[in-house]
Amino acid sequence: MAASRIAGWAQQVMLLTSLLANTSDFAAVDTAKPMAPTSLTTFQAQVTVAPTADIGANLIANIDDPNATDAQSVCPGYLATQVDFNNCGFTAQLSLLGEACNVYGTDIQDLVLTVEHQAKTGLHVNIQPAHVTSENRSWYILEEGWVPAPQQEGCLDEADLMFSWTNTPSFGFNVTRKSSQEVIFSTDGSKLIYENQFIEFVTSTNDDYNLYGLGEVIHGIRLQPGLTRTIYAADAGDPVDANIYGSHPFYLETRYYDVDPDNSSNETPAKHMSTSHGVYLRNAHAQEVLMHETNVTWRTLGGDIDLYFFSGPTQPEVTSQYLHQIGLPVMQQYWTLGFHQCRWGYENWSMTEEVVDNFGKFEIPLETIWNDIDYMKGYRDFENDPVRFPYDKGKEFSTVCTRMVFTDGNDTGSFMLNPDGTLYIGEVWPGFTVFPDFLKDSTSKWWLKTTSDWYKKIQFDGLWIDMNEVSSFCVGSCGSNNLSQNPVHPAFKLPGEPGAVVYEFPEGFNITNATEAASAGYGSSTQAAAASKTAVSSSATKYLTAKPTPGERDINHPPYVINHVHGDLAVHTTSPNATHHGGIKEYDVHNLYGHMLLQNTYKAMTAIMPGKRPFIIGRSTFVGSGNYSGHWGGDNYSKFAYMFFSIPQALSFSLFGIPMFGVDTCGFSGNADEELCNRWMQLSAFFPFYRNHNVVGALSQEPYVWESVIEATKAAMNIRFQLLPYMYTLFYYAHVRGDTVMRALAWEFPNDPSLANADRQFFLGSAILVTPVLTQGQATVDGVFPGLVEGTDVYYDWYNQSAVNVPSKKNTTIDAPLGHIPVYIRGGNILATQQMRMTTRDARKTDWSMIVAMGKDERANGTLYLDDGVSIEPESTKLVTMSAQTAASKNAERKRVTHLRIDVFVDGDFTDLDLPLGNVTILGVAAPPDGTQVKIDDWNVTSCVEYCAERRMLVISDLKEALNGTAWKKSWSLTL
Ligand code: NOJ
Repeated sequence: MAASRIAGWAQQVMLLTSLLANTSDFAAVDTAKPMAPTSLTTFQAQVTVAPTADIGANLIANIDDPNATDAQSVCPGYLATQVDFNNCGFTAQLSLLGEACNVYGTDIQDLVLTVEHQAKTGLHVNIQPAHVTSENRSWYILEEGWVPAPQQEGCLDEADLMFSWTNTPSFGFNVTRKSSQEVIFSTDGSKLIYENQFIEFVTSTNDDYNLYGLGEVIHGIRLQPGLTRTIYAADAGDPVDANIYGSHPFYLETRYYDVDPDNSSNETPAKHMSTSHGVYLRNAHAQEVLMHETNVTWRTLGGDIDLYFFSGPTQPEVTSQYLHQIGLPVMQQYWTLGFHQCRWGYENWSMTEEVVDNFGKFEIPLETIWNDIDYMKGYRDFENDPVRFPYDKGKEFSTVCTRMVFTDGNDTGSFMLNPDGTLYIGEVWPGFTVFPDFLKDSTSKWWLKTTSDWYKKIQFDGLWIDMNEVSSFCVGSCGSNNLSQNPVHPAFKLPGEPGAVVYEFPEGFNITNATEAASAGYGSSTQAAAASKTAVSSSATKYLTAKPTPGERDINHPPYVINHVHGDLAVHTTSPNATHHGGIKEYDVHNLYGHMLLQNTYKAMTAIMPGKRPFIIGRSTFVGSGNYSGHWGGDNYSKFAYMFFSIPQALSFSLFGIPMFGVDTCGFSGNADEELCNRWMQLSAFFPFYRNHNVVGALSQEPYVWESVIEATKAAMNIRFQLLPYMYTLFYYAHVRGDTVMRALAWEFPNDPSLANADRQFFLGSAILVTPVLTQGQATVDGVFPGLVEGTDVYYDWYNQSAVNVPSKKNTTIDAPLGHIPVYIRGGNILATQQMRMTTRDARKTDWSMIVAMGKDERANGTLYLDDGVSIEPESTKLVTMSAQTAASKNAERKRVTHLRIDVFVDGDFTDLDLPLGNVTILGVAAPPDGTQVKIDDWNVTSCVEYCAERRMLVISDLKEALNGTAWKKSWSLTL
């Protein structure tokens, strides 16, 4: 079977290769009839759920409704009284300043305002109803046990942010940066609206503001006026500009200042500086953030106003301050940075095995092979299909165990309920389905038991948590009275089933394969798809309009209709009235579902594999999910546009504290062609999570499918493998300091306003600049080298290791024929590198090299973090700090020569990676050294020194003996 064949290919793959299980969040409901195994290729007589089952009420989003009432124009606002100061701030009462407007709910008469300075950099502003009861607590209060509340200890007189307020014309407040007196948040002049199902506050903005974050959404990095960001976890296949899987009510704002506004000279360009701050609304309810020209309007369907401000004043500081409060990113195991191959449609062990073998045959590194829901028996979690994916050489697994998953969960009351206390039964892949209630403590135990029972049968190394928004394919508890029909088939055709949509020709096929395209009738399916879209949208004209009932909540159809991708809140997920044990409604906690599932999976995995860092990739995330899990970008498309979107999506997740991010490389839905896959396999090699994944029924897109993609993949992987120790070090700093891994150009160059919107290039850490081709049919790409024209920075081409010539204009055209991804090392950095092998385990055994890229000031620095790559608390670690400098002088013959000094400082006692240092390459050395005698500490040592004047590159090799075969055993200094 597959496992032994995989081992036959390479022993280390057997040890490191994970059978990653796609564990969606549902357990199959027990039925009287035992289920026969199903497969995508063998269809059995099955009841299909009615196509109407997933259609909700016809609603018009408030923002699209020309007749919608503007709450600002009809509501009275509040008045602040009874101010009571304490050490760290004050509290005050807010009372409704007139007659209730009850516009989208029932106005709350009395509120409590709490203002609290937190340490130097944080300010907390909370507004909640004055009378919260145990019955309505979940309507307003987000429990700290579910989502920690930032607690920066100590309030200081020298706090960065000041709070001020006014009662004219109604209560409003300002948050001001003390040092510059700049107001960073101001509700002054707008009204606060606070109802039981609707909250609105408005903050005025500067012109042309630069906001980032507020996800999850598919869009460019910068949020412009005119956009609405809806936050409501949804199973939606990556539509542009709509709410999708995750919920992150956080934004970063950057403001640029002209530091010399009186300079009107054309010769000296304007000089800028910037400050950044962060705003986090700790609220899990459905919400919308409307970006207007002059303000940002925040609306939620419940919860409280629990605002946290982070003063920065730079982006790295904002991110670090935020991540220290919400949970620092989890440290990943080293192997997770290897390459992952996945697809929906690896139908059985032998097909999976064939894919693994092909990677071996074409010598493309492969770390893990993933199976999608194909492995499941009847699509039920925690059970392999006995025919296609038997546990042990075809030995069938007893159906009793499947029932145990449900029975155990049911007996322990671990599933969500209907309002009447019966089981809530929605529908997912297995048919009618129940959903774990993670708000109940005992559910964790059941989840752990179930996960560990399955682990005893199949030893997975990581878990893929899919569809945890949570997805349900029908509105309401559609299975409640229909259980005898189970296992039902979803209302829609699964991709690849007879009658399902046939994927279009790959994008641009008509250009790259003109003759074949013409004879195959390219374009007809595209037109048909476009026509069918029109037909759907034209039918939606009559809308349900819910009116508020005083004192009551309508949670299924709240009076304020958010601009939700699926319209009705109940569509394609559990309904808002699905009930948790203890009575909490899904309406109040929906956005937390995915997060709690990730948290519980983390707990289960640490119990199953004690001491090991769990590897989890989840789809639906919330604030703080990075503390447990990584994330992939969901169901994207095999299109160039989506390759581009992967960059801003990744950068947003850097801000959200989930650096382990990557997208379905070569695209999920639709067919990828050679050119797209060539470009994308290269681009994703620079993303932390590197996985190729594909929908069932589409053309194969593993990197070995096309010759040019094999070469392009290996070329990019070669760089990735060299950079793995660097990437791992970046993860270490993300984990301990809240640094980002993938970075926007604007974050590295905060004083350059022209970079505010730059999202077609990115930095990996501060040292690597990636400028990919993102459009079809191009052999060049336009990109910038921040700081190069300005003379502050220097970049070295990764491939020829020469400094990039200073271009005449900032946006430069770079050669990038197919198979070549432009990658640059930014001067001022030192990288410790290793070599590519078929797996990361073998790569970790290769000799070290050092690349020293000199900055404009002839200095460079770098760090390297080392540990066992596995343990949550490694027994030993090592931190290597590297610095280098060169100085020029004239020697006795009046020739210009260079003196070099490299200092390596080793701290820690982890010894496993004390391997030889093969060579040191120094880039940007203006003149040759004065001789070739290298000294390590005070000793003359034998080595080989070569200088290439054309490239200004100095290579010192043969250092093995000089360092006793161990690069990092002890600190050393090299001089030449
Ligand atoms: C939805 C996921 O987003 C996708 O990656 C997966 O292939 C399908 N579910 C099937 O499991």
